Formats: sequence, structure tokens, C-alpha cells
Amino acid sequence: MAEAAQPTAADNGLAQRIRVRIEQIYSTKSVQGEDGTTYNIMPAALPLERGRFLLDVCRKYRPLATLEVGMAWGVSTLHILQALMENGVAQPRHVLMDPFQGSSFHNAALRTLAELGLEDCVEFHAQPSSLVLPRMVGEGRQFDLAFIDGDHRFDAVFVDFFYIDQLLKPGGVAIFDDTSWDGVYLACRFAQTNYGYETIADLAASGGSGSAPGRPLMRACRKPLTPVEREQTHFVPFFEDFVSNRFGKRLTASTLRYQGLIALREGRRAEARRCFREALGVDPLHVKTYFRLIRTYLPAALIRATTGRTGSAG
Ligand SMILES: C[S@@+](CC[C@H](N)C(=O)[O-])C[C@H]1O[C@@H](n2cnc3c(N)ncnc32)[C@H](O)[C@@H]1O
Repeated sequence: MAEAAQPTAADNGLAQRIRVRIEQIYSTKSVQGEDGTTYNIMPAALPLERGRFLLDVCRKYRPLATLEVGMAWGVSTLHILQALMENGVAQPRHVLMDPFQGSSFHNAALRTLAELGLEDCVEFHAQPSSLVLPRMVGEGRQFDLAFIDGDHRFDAVFVDFFYIDQLLKPGGVAIFDDTSWDGVYLACRFAQTNYGYETIADLAASGGSGSAPGRPLMRACRKPLTPVEREQTHFVPFFEDFVSNRFGKRLTASTLRYQGLIALREGRRAEARRCFREALGVDPLHVKTYFRLIRTYLPAALIRATTGRTGSAG
């Protein structure tokens, strides 16, 4: 990460305006869409302490070129831009991608950026990261820091990381949000065990619902300066936690739920019922499973009508 110029009075004024806007967004928990309608930013937006973590990492590691997957209401974007301004980055150009900015978020983040006069500081792509990131790899683009907060399923985060690794300069920083989630946690563990990424900062979980023991809420990792030597024939296991006793129960419940859904889709309703019942025995707090269990009692035609899936046997 190169040296930034000293911030000018104008940059500092802008950083201050962004900070005030962030405070306002958190205090009202709302933003305006492009049509002027007010929208509640929760639960999609980055909560306050996570925004602070992102800001602190960006302040400390002083990136010049930054990238973000998953913009939502623009809260993380504002934190990154605030840090870039405070760090005195001349002509910042923060790259963003989110295919649902218009359809789900009413272009509210883009509106906020325009209101703050920040349009020229961002490069927005209204497409999924799985299309934008490889294109940028092909263009030879390079970044100092990437924030990964898009689709949270394992395959999506893994693909995001796979391309982001190629886009990061040696020593670049990847920040993962929601490392307490299975998919994100696994992708982050892969980065560490197979690509040699080193943890540089963690935001610890406060122990509330959804937080898995031993996993932070957010993790910032640094890419090694020289690539780790890897073998063609095997990878370093990165899923030990999932097969240990600690997560054994979680794994069993999710496997049963998955098997139940397959059975329901294939019309084996009795088998689906058994799987959902057993899953609830292991994890009785998984509310969706109760609804899935109820679905196994519906007539096949009704299952088809409500889900498009069949349920003719069982
Ligand atoms: C948890 S929200 C992001 C919150 C945001 N970073 C913030 O600070 O407020 C997840 C975002 O990822 C976006 N997303 C989902 N799939 C995506 C994909 N394939 N590529 C890029 N963004 C995606 C969603 O539209 C949503 O805006």
C-alpha cells in the first residue's frame, strides 16, 4: 500500500460530511431510495460496531485502491470512503458491485453517494461479483483492500475470494463479514490454510444468537508477500471444525434438513417428514424446519402449487 498524499482541507471536509451522514443513518436506521421513499436499513446493513471495525482496518492499512462486494444500503461503502478521505487518498476510486442495488435497495446507496458528491469516487457495477471480478482479473486490475459482503453461501464467497486473491497486490487485505456463518467461515479458513493469508484483525462475537463458538463476526486477513507453495494433488483440509464434536450437531442437523428437502422435491414425503423430525430433534430452534415439516402433510397438488415442487408419494 503506497504512501498517500496529505489530506487537503476539502478532503477532510468530505470525510467529516461522510462521518455525519453515517451517524445520521445509524441513528435513524433509514435511508432514502432514489424515489425519495424512506427505507429501514436493517437487517441488511452493517451494524455500528462492524462499520467501526471496517473503518479502523482501512485507516490502519491505508489502502489506495479498494474493492467491495455487496453494497446494500451503502453503509460499508461510506465507511471505506471516509477512511480513504481521512487517509488523504488523492482521487479515490472505490470499486463496487451489487446486482440488487436497484431491485432490492431502491438505488438508495447510489442516491446517498450522489448527495454527498461522491459519484466520481466510485465505480459501480450492477452485476454479480462472479461476472465482475473475473473480468477485472482479465483487465489486470490490482487492489490494496477488498471487503467481501455479497452472497454469503460457501460457493459464492469462495468464488469471490478466489478472484479477489488474484486482484489483491502482495500484502493486500481481504476483509470478510459474517465469519460466524458457516460458508464465510469456511472460505476464510481456506484462504488461511491454503493460500497463507494471515489474520491481522478480528471483530469478536459478543456471544449473541447465531454466533458460533470460536468464530469472529468479521476477520481481516493479509495476503502473503510471496505466494505459498502448493501441490497439484491435494489441498490442506480447512473444515476440521465441521467434523469435530463441537460442530457435529450442527452438521448433522443441516445434513438432515438437506436430505429432507431432496426427499420433498422427489415426492418422498414420508422420508422428508422423518428427516425434518430428526433435524428438529437435533436443532429444535431452526424455525424453517417446522414449516417444512408441515409442508410434508400437504396434498401433493398443494405442495406443487405453493413451491413448484412435487410431493406425490409418501
Ligand atoms: C449483507 S448485504 C451487504 C451489506 C453492506 N455491505 C452494508 O454494509 O450495508 C449483502 C449484499 O450482497 C449483495 N449481493 C448478493 N449477491 C451478490 C452477488 N452475487 N454479487 C454482488 N453482490 C451480491 C446483496 O444485494 C446485498 O446488497
